[in-house]
Amino acid sequence: MSARAEDRPAMRPTLSSPLDVERVRRDFPALAGKAHGHPLVYLDSAATAQKPLAVLDRLRRSYLEECANIHRGVYQLSERATAAHEAARDKVRRFLGAEQASEIVFVRGATEGINLVAQSYGRSQIHQGDEILISEMEHHSNIVPWQMLAEERGAHLKVAPMDDRGDLILPEYEKLLGPRTKIVAFTAVSNALGTVNPAAAMIAAAHHVGAVVLLDAAQAAPHAALDVRELDCDFLVFSGHKLYGPTGIGVLYGKERLLAAMPPWQGGGDMILSVTFEKTTYAPPPAKFEAGTPHIQGAIGLGAAIDYVESLGLAAIERYETDLLAYAEASLARLPGLRLVGQPQRRAAAISFVLDGIHPHDIGTILDRYGVAIRAGHHCAQPAMQRMGVSGTARVSLAFYNKRDEIDTLVSCLGEAQRMFRP
Ligand code: ALA
Repeated sequence: MSARAEDRPAMRPTLSSPLDVERVRRDFPALAGKAHGHPLVYLDSAATAQKPLAVLDRLRRSYLEECANIHRGVYQLSERATAAHEAARDKVRRFLGAEQASEIVFVRGATEGINLVAQSYGRSQIHQGDEILISEMEHHSNIVPWQMLAEERGAHLKVAPMDDRGDLILPEYEKLLGPRTKIVAFTAVSNALGTVNPAAAMIAAAHHVGAVVLLDAAQAAPHAALDVRELDCDFLVFSGHKLYGPTGIGVLYGKERLLAAMPPWQGGGDMILSVTFEKTTYAPPPAKFEAGTPHIQGAIGLGAAIDYVESLGLAAIERYETDLLAYAEASLARLPGLRLVGQPQRRAAAISFVLDGIHPHDIGTILDRYGVAIRAGHHCAQPAMQRMGVSGTARVSLAFYNKRDEIDTLVSCLGEAQRMFRP
């Protein structure tokens, strides 16, 4: 994952300077909150990220000054809303390094983006005996839509395995690619294990057999710069709320020629050129895939989130988080009785672990009593859990607003949990 420099806006000087976490934290008032009387330690950003004031202010301003439907009104307020919505689309285009704004479809989130591709591209292109290849570490949202499609079309779902560390076994993945492989869908970063996949190599291998590739960037987009042209993925999805934006908004990127050839998946207003009872003609992408009134303010808020993240600089964010993750992993690994679940060669976003004799949900509940918020369970990745030999884990996930003393608090609270459960 790397930045396409020439197509990105000038970034603030902080790009090459270290990220000032105390200054950043002032942008997120929620982080100054308390839970059960303790300072909040929010370590669940892979589930959803906290929102900076810049996003909240932009949402408020949009509802106050641009509250009208888009693409429909002939009056100034509607024109203003339309301009802001389409400006947000262009911010997403630039953020992903895409060539054209028409390649950016607003959806509810990564899940909806995957379902759109499965239902539209998949139903029109997948036939009896075709193969869809995913990986063993996928989130349910990148498994179930393909299972549904395979079942309907008489296709086969193939699964590329991972090793004991939680890394994809690349030679096995390559062996599963063949002339019948029509779609390959995999995650750039595992939400459950933190594994960073070698996306570019996997995409190139899939293209070699003529398959199209969907990259699930829900966990990757907040942590490192993505470039769809450099990656050469055919589709990419991510969710706004994990990127410091509002919930209910996400993005599907698709190559222009693919989107243009795909049938719509939902019918309604704004996705047509003309309608009669005999025949409807469809608008070109992205409108073809955006039936009905969209989440206008969600898109505008996502645009503000992208501005915010870019003002810090993805490179500075990645550097800061990589250091913090390494600190967290080393601190956790030192705790006796703690086992890391997944120790991938490259990690982003998350660390999963189990503690001897304490159920992950109990870990989560005890930590919560000390104000520490983590996620516990199967993380919507049950097959990955099965592969790692656990039914669930405790998961810590970090963002650029976390700091080392929060990791220290986490580790000392885990020690406290162990004392409570000691016979
Ligand atoms: N997919 C999100 C997570 O991993 C909700 O927590």
